[in-house]
Amino acid sequence: MILRPAVDEDSYYFLHLRNDRDSVLMSHRPALSLKEHVEWWATTTDERWVAEHEGERVGTLRVSSAGELSLVVAPEQRGKGHGVEMLRMAGYVKGRHARLIAEALPENTRSQRAFLKAGWTPLLFQWP
Ligand SMILES: CC(C)(COP(=O)(O)OP(=O)(O)OC[C@H]1O[C@@H](n2cnc3c(N)ncnc32)[C@H](O)[C@@H]1OP(=O)(O)O)[C@@H](O)C(=O)NCCC(=O)NCCS
Repeated sequence: MILRPAVDEDSYYFLHLRNDRDSVLMSHRPALSLKEHVEWWATTTDERWVAEHEGERVGTLRVSSAGELSLVVAPEQRGKGHGVEMLRMAGYVKGRHARLIAEALPENTRSQRAFLKAGWTPLLFQWP
């Protein structure tokens, strides 16, 4: 797998994965309209990366200016280890950030397993 910086041709790929059913469910954020996405793409300061496996795009990864990472693996590519591999490459995208953090909701067990398997440390508890 490689992680490469996203280019403008990847914009709709990001929107496609951002609006995937599981991505919406697991982020508790509504799907974005094309207009909202185009505005975001033009103005965001997030670093954007595309994961490629054997020459094919398999997922997207973003790191905000606060060092918050989020990733989506394309629906048809899930369960093949790509998520874990992307998260193992975190050192590569860490850049100038003091640390990288990410949020996986309690019900997102698949994501939690991926982070743990990739060597990330669980950090936060919430009550209730
Ligand atoms: C979460 C996500 C990034 C994981 O990537 P992935 O490539 O599907 O996961 P991997 O194949 O690397 O496997 C990671 C773990 O999930 C498990 N897993 C795979 N498919 C699963 C499924 N359908 N249900 C539950 N767990 C599953 C794997 O077994 C593995 O754990 P294990 O090795 O301990 O058994 C991906 O599923 C995704 O993009 N989901 C929607 C968006 C999202 O939730 N993003 C993360 C927000 S924090």
